[in-house]
Amino acid sequence: MTMQEMPSQAAYPPSAEMSARAHVDATGYAEMYATSINDPEAFWGKEGLRLEWMTPYTKVKNTSFEPGNIDIRWFEDGTLNVAANCIDRHLETRGDQTAIIWEPDDPTKEDAKHITYRELHGSVCKMANVLKDLGVSKGDRVIIYLPMIPEAAYAMLACARIGAIHSIVFAGFSPDALGARINGCGAKVVITADFAPRGGRETPLKANTDAALAQCEDDVKCLVVKRTGSETAWTERDYDYNALSEQASADCTAEEMNAEDPLFILYTSGSTGQPKGVVHTTGGYLVYASMTHEYVFDYHDGDIFWCTADVGWVTGHSYIVYGPLANGATTIMFEGVPTYPDAGRFWEVCAKHKVNQFYTAPTAIRALMGAGNEWVTKHDLSDLRILGSVGEPINPEAWNWYHEVVGQGRCPIVDTFWQTETGGHMLTPLPGATTLKPGAAQQPFFGVKPVVLEPTSGEVIEGKGIEGVLCIGDSWPGQMRTVWGDHERFEKTYFSDYKGYYFSGDGCRVDEDGDFWITGRVDDVINVSGHRMGTAEVESALVAHAKVAESAVVGYPHDVKGQGIYAYVTLMNGEEPSDALRKELEVWVRTEIGPIAKPDLIQWAPGLPKTRSGKIMRRILRKIAEDDFGALGDTSTLADPSVVDDLIANRMNRK
Ligand code: WT7
Repeated sequence: MTMQEMPSQAAYPPSAEMSARAHVDATGYAEMYATSINDPEAFWGKEGLRLEWMTPYTKVKNTSFEPGNIDIRWFEDGTLNVAANCIDRHLETRGDQTAIIWEPDDPTKEDAKHITYRELHGSVCKMANVLKDLGVSKGDRVIIYLPMIPEAAYAMLACARIGAIHSIVFAGFSPDALGARINGCGAKVVITADFAPRGGRETPLKANTDAALAQCEDDVKCLVVKRTGSETAWTERDYDYNALSEQASADCTAEEMNAEDPLFILYTSGSTGQPKGVVHTTGGYLVYASMTHEYVFDYHDGDIFWCTADVGWVTGHSYIVYGPLANGATTIMFEGVPTYPDAGRFWEVCAKHKVNQFYTAPTAIRALMGAGNEWVTKHDLSDLRILGSVGEPINPEAWNWYHEVVGQGRCPIVDTFWQTETGGHMLTPLPGATTLKPGAAQQPFFGVKPVVLEPTSGEVIEGKGIEGVLCIGDSWPGQMRTVWGDHERFEKTYFSDYKGYYFSGDGCRVDEDGDFWITGRVDDVINVSGHRMGTAEVESALVAHAKVAESAVVGYPHDVKGQGIYAYVTLMNGEEPSDALRKELEVWVRTEIGPIAKPDLIQWAPGLPKTRSGKIMRRILRKIAEDDFGALGDTSTLADPSVVDDLIANRMNRK
């Protein structure tokens, strides 16, 4: 049974103790939310003061969702520096407090590192000076392709310090995907490491970077961080980070940036084959990351905060680095995976560092749930106060296990719905304010105006007990500003299906209490282990193979990953299907995009169901992949209905 078919009746009001200590209780939320919507200028004008500005802003909001004039500006005449806000301003009060706890992949070989705010300042300034010496200046792009090591945070903050725009590429992406991103944003420098240890294995990042750079201009430089120390090739464009930073000065002036100067670009999948460069800017993004981190996790001074994401995803940007550090928190950076060396790793780390807020993805919870409760219960988790979930809807079974076994019934779960595009949380419970319902993202965060539309007519559906597509009616400070180099695509993707609204790409339901339930993507984006994949991207990778004539990719329900990747493949004339070829295609997609894009199931399809005009009927392919072909709906418009019988007879997912 899927989550949508099983609405949970259970509801958990916040404890009196939680409401009393939290930043807001239910009344506080209602009041603050009303102000945020009725008077955004006043609300955000005040909230913007959580940062330190070099030039104070006098204008707060100047935003338009008008067709033809999508223009989003927040705090537009203010200036500030993100690194100064995340580090320098804390030095006086918390210079010796730990900013980052780094937890290595293999705890039997290495110890955790505690990096104070003062040490962080020194390392970031050094990295900033190294980048300057390599010729990087304000507005230049820098690609970061690193393991989850402190240098990844140094690199992000060093870019922010000198006004360079970083674009992180997840270390699991292939050389081709890396090369496309280096070229896509015209990066001057790529920062990488020799190897990336993860789950006891090592990814050859430097070798991947060399392969990627073979597709790029000769003058792109490569700054190499030593992680394992194992040998790598060395070329003329390579620079040794460890040697250079040793000689670099530990002082570097923070560049004065306009609130609307880009802070970073992050590539994400959409419904076309080409990933988009999502652009976030300086002022609004940081205000939003900082505020959501504080309220959603009910963060208080002195708390130890752990978000298990990778900095290669937006979750890592906003809730490992920028949000927590802006708030002067101690944030954990974890290099490993949930099941290495064993299935108790998350809980061992929580106990060891006395974690107060723990934030992870449903796919990890489902994987650990299967390993048995003793992996959890043998660790002292009494410091945990808040649990978070992100990336996909959390099914009630996983929610209950997380709540009872990990949180011992004591810790509220914040199920945070948001996107790379939104910069921070959009719909989420608040720990001291919300009566929790397993599986629901529940309420809009301050300043977020959700609107539900009828998908075809685009008409607004008001009230409770309704279902439709989720749009947002007005801008919020953390919103992306454009697609890098293609503002038209920004408008087309998010503002053209439903005029005057930001379209999320997700469907949702509003229950009788007015709580929001996300029902999943309504476009050709699938969500594999909380990672977003465009089906078109996997299709283009498959058809790039010489033996493949055509392919259609859909998602299907997967017990652990949420959705799995199901590929229908039509071979070129004369090519024979075989297990060896199936393996070859799997490896091919891994190399073209990365391991996260590897199809879970490949079905040989002599033909695909198409309309007479040649459009593939994905609805039918989804049903067959779901093993739910009893209700295929109308197939009368198909050019050749018999292909469907063949696909059903040879389906790969049988329950
Ligand atoms: C898509 C965004 C920024 C979060 C990490 C993923 C899905 C995300 C939830 C949630 C239901 C969720 C949506 C969204 N999603 N969080 N709590 N409940 N669905 O960011 O890669 O940009 O993916 O993830 O479908 O559109 P992303």
